[in-house]
Amino acid sequence: MSSFRSFFIFWTFKYYASPMYSALRLSFLLPFLFLITKNSLAQNAVTIPIETLHNALVLQTDKENHLGITYFGKKLGSAVEYQLVTSQSRQHDGNAGTYNSAYTPAGSWNVSEPALQVTHSDGNKSMDLVYVSHKTSKENDNVTLTSIVLKDPVYAVEVTLHYKTYIHEDVTEQWSVIKSAEKGEITLNKYASANLYFIAKDYFLTHYNGTWAKEMNPEQEQLTAGMRVLDSKLGTRANLFQPPSFQLSFDKPATETEGKVLLGTLGWSGNFRMDFEVDSYHNLRLIAGINNYASEYPLASNKEFTTPSFIYTFSENGKGEASRNLHNWARKYRILDGEGSRMTLLNNWEATYFGFNEEKLSGLFKDGKKLGVDLFLLDDGWFANKYPRNNDQAGLGDWQENVKKLPHGIGYLVKEAKNAGVKFGIWVEPEMVNPKSELYEKHPDWVIKEPQRPEHHMRNQLPLDLSNPEVQKFVFGVLDKLFIENPDLAYIKWDCNAITFNAHSAYLEKSKQKQSQLYVDYVKGLYKVLEKLRAKYPKVPMMLCSGGGGRVDYEALKYFTEFWPSDNTDPLERIFMQWEYSYFYPAIAQSAHVTDWGKQPLKYRTDVAMMGRLGYDIVVSHLNEKDLQFSQQAVATYNSIKDVVWHGDLYRLVDPKENSYASLLFSSKNKDRAILFSYLTGNRNGDGSDTPFRLQGLDPAKKYKVKELNLYPETKTALKEDQVYSGEFLMTVGFNPAVSARRTSVIVEISAQ
Ligand code: DGJ
Repeated sequence: MSSFRSFFIFWTFKYYASPMYSALRLSFLLPFLFLITKNSLAQNAVTIPIETLHNALVLQTDKENHLGITYFGKKLGSAVEYQLVTSQSRQHDGNAGTYNSAYTPAGSWNVSEPALQVTHSDGNKSMDLVYVSHKTSKENDNVTLTSIVLKDPVYAVEVTLHYKTYIHEDVTEQWSVIKSAEKGEITLNKYASANLYFIAKDYFLTHYNGTWAKEMNPEQEQLTAGMRVLDSKLGTRANLFQPPSFQLSFDKPATETEGKVLLGTLGWSGNFRMDFEVDSYHNLRLIAGINNYASEYPLASNKEFTTPSFIYTFSENGKGEASRNLHNWARKYRILDGEGSRMTLLNNWEATYFGFNEEKLSGLFKDGKKLGVDLFLLDDGWFANKYPRNNDQAGLGDWQENVKKLPHGIGYLVKEAKNAGVKFGIWVEPEMVNPKSELYEKHPDWVIKEPQRPEHHMRNQLPLDLSNPEVQKFVFGVLDKLFIENPDLAYIKWDCNAITFNAHSAYLEKSKQKQSQLYVDYVKGLYKVLEKLRAKYPKVPMMLCSGGGGRVDYEALKYFTEFWPSDNTDPLERIFMQWEYSYFYPAIAQSAHVTDWGKQPLKYRTDVAMMGRLGYDIVVSHLNEKDLQFSQQAVATYNSIKDVVWHGDLYRLVDPKENSYASLLFSSKNKDRAILFSYLTGNRNGDGSDTPFRLQGLDPAKKYKVKELNLYPETKTALKEDQVYSGEFLMTVGFNPAVSARRTSVIVEISAQ
């Protein structure tokens, strides 16, 4: 009935407007249209449930055919009952408009923060959206796409809301497509990806702030009436101060195992904006998308604009379940090679900085082999001749090998590495330029800068203008040349160390486009380059880096296998950071290197790095005999547990923010094997604890033994390794490998017998 009605209305709307249709047909249709509008739409609202395995988002038309959100939460057994929810949603106030809009338009009846704001070709700024039609198609047994067409009854502007659900992962990906059939160009003043509406007693938002080496500091606040905005205006390195990810708890703050919580994140590698507006009914509107700051976007006649995806998952059972849902989704559907494997590596950045030559590097290849890692990663400093890259003040943009340091070129290094028994990877920062470079001299118009103002640099560099197709070609060419000349190149670290100041594009000016396109067209340009690169080189692992965790999101991770969470590799700091990142990103995507940062012993630094994609950035030859022996064993141990860390389920058990130690457990999908990591994080006498805490992620019916892994040479475990425990015991009574000032970190393997 409802699909027949939708079809009929769609058909009616579409053809009623067509001049090709004769008066006869119109006279045939009009009475029907009247009847359907009056009887079906007004009295039988269109109800669209968008469901995953456990959750539902329900949309419904109101008397005026506006589409509102009537329900968000746990799925009901009978979808018919969603229609009963309407009365509870307090969706309509005769004086002040509809609050629960599925995509809030600006300038007509709505007086709250809009999802869509448009300037029409005649200069008019009003927008309304009414329901036209919807359809649902199954991509496969797990993935369903619901698309809903809304239309302005006055102006020829149409929006299609897309909701892609990943049933078993309880994840929804939501985006919008805005189309204009107006004769002239229209301007999109605000163009959100998603608009949601929640009804709960209270709302608790956890968002993140930070800067270089201080990424992912969580802050939780109760949302009160009015607007709270999370946003970035930084351009290239958009996430430096704030990532586009948050946790939202309903009624009360969710814990790892209890409470209603939504984890949300925007797949967009540029300026973002997320509005949280608690309205006068204490309901919450969430609008997420590209930041419209300085970004009014023109839309030509008969063109469409596709927004990025807002990705979210909801759980009634706390943050642990929600994050595991997101991890399952990300590994299976989003991260490049998310279900595959990763290479362990030795990076030379902190070992040499810019000071290396072929001989030194050859020695490091051998060190990598000695350590047992898969790959050697050559960092910054290998390029530029007129202005050699011997520090961060020159050379960026001139991607030719520096002949003094590398007289035989990269090809020679790739071969040397192979001879030493490791693969070879390389660092690039292709979106950036130092003013002191040949590239800048040759193409000053390729640089993002205000022509009339002094340049403003970050780390002595500026972004190239990726809205310019010539620049896109150049950036692609940097990578393409490396791969063509060195087919055995096995890994790329793609860095990006400056934000966008003075956002102005000479290209947009020359091609008579609008400057307000720059922030958006930059990101689109970047994706074009990455798309082309992946079409030609689909598999080569690439790390997304940005002088720290300034850059990671789920659109970029379509092209990258991993990201660099922070330059801060102090293991104590990393425990907290990796903990927070782990709400959104699985361990397989998080690069974690053992370095000399921090005061903790090598074992502690290594144990922490083993919770991600393990790498080293140390001078191997400086390790004493025992440290070297330990590290060699650690790489081998990591190889034996990496499958569980990368592909298993993560349980955050003891939160270091509330305790003086941290404990996390990764469990294999079949619950046969789990790896437990515990770290002392406080440093007062008596910190740590041996009080058992409850494990999770085991099978209560299985019997397990525990075994300590990654022991430092000549140390003994304090665990009773002969003892057999039931999963039930470990998850009810609990267990604690008891970190203390004498054993500051412990890794325990828990294996089913
Ligand atoms: C910033 C990165 O985070 C570092 O790891 C290193 O690659 C430097 N850039 C190189 O300039």
